[in-house]
Amino acid sequence: MDFFDVISSRRAVNHFDSHRDVPDALLRQVVEMAASTPSSFNLQPWSLMVLREKEEKLRLQKEAMGQAKVSEAPVTLIVLADTRGWADECPFVERNFSEMMKAGAMKESQRGWFSKARTNLYGTSDASQVAFATKNTGFFAMALMLSARSVGLHTHPMDGFSMEGVKKAFHIPDHYWIPLLLSVGYFNDEKELAEPKWRKTYDDIVVRF
Ligand SMILES: Cc1cc2nc3c(=O)[nH]c(=O)nc-3n(C[C@H](O)[C@H](O)[C@H](O)COP(=O)(O)O)c2cc1C
Repeated sequence: MDFFDVISSRRAVNHFDSHRDVPDALLRQVVEMAASTPSSFNLQPWSLMVLREKEEKLRLQKEAMGQAKVSEAPVTLIVLADTRGWADECPFVERNFSEMMKAGAMKESQRGWFSKARTNLYGTSDASQVAFATKNTGFFAMALMLSARSVGLHTHPMDGFSMEGVKKAFHIPDHYWIPLLLSVGYFNDEKELAEPKWRKTYDDIVVRF
């Protein structure tokens, strides 16, 4: 599939073939393709919970307005955005710094500067921490949807769920935000795909103030 086919055939499909599984290796390929997503300082503040078991998906569905696709799809992902993914205590921050040192992009003497820069940019308020986590994770989620489509899978993003309910039901620590749930699988060919939705044009999108 070329890129135009990938982007134009991605739809939020409502019906998944619950008899057709997504093999682990294929899911791994999709996630690793999406991992090339850019992020602030390359901090990559995203994580995924992968739900395959019926019981787990039904538990999630209960917190997601009963949306049937959550349990119909062979895989539903809880997409997590780490609001502390910029902070010194986050293990990936240390990993990030040592990788940058290895690559010659940072020196040990810049550790303090780097910590201050992250704190000033992302850590000054709850809103800035949520913005940091969700904007980066949103890009990752989009890459997941396109990567999935490029290997023949369909997806459905959802924000129709109770974040507090999902966190409680799956013991998710407080510092995570959940920008979306993402069902992944094959479209159920016995159902009809809804007509493509309207989109804003270039002229609608471009503004000046
Ligand atoms: C962040 C996000 C949250 C969404 N939440 C839901 C949802 O909870 N339930 C649902 O049926 N569709 C949901 N959608 C799907 C949108 O309605 C759909 O993407 C939009 O209408 C455009 O249709 P298309 O993706 O098929 O082009 C969501 C989409 C996004 C990006």
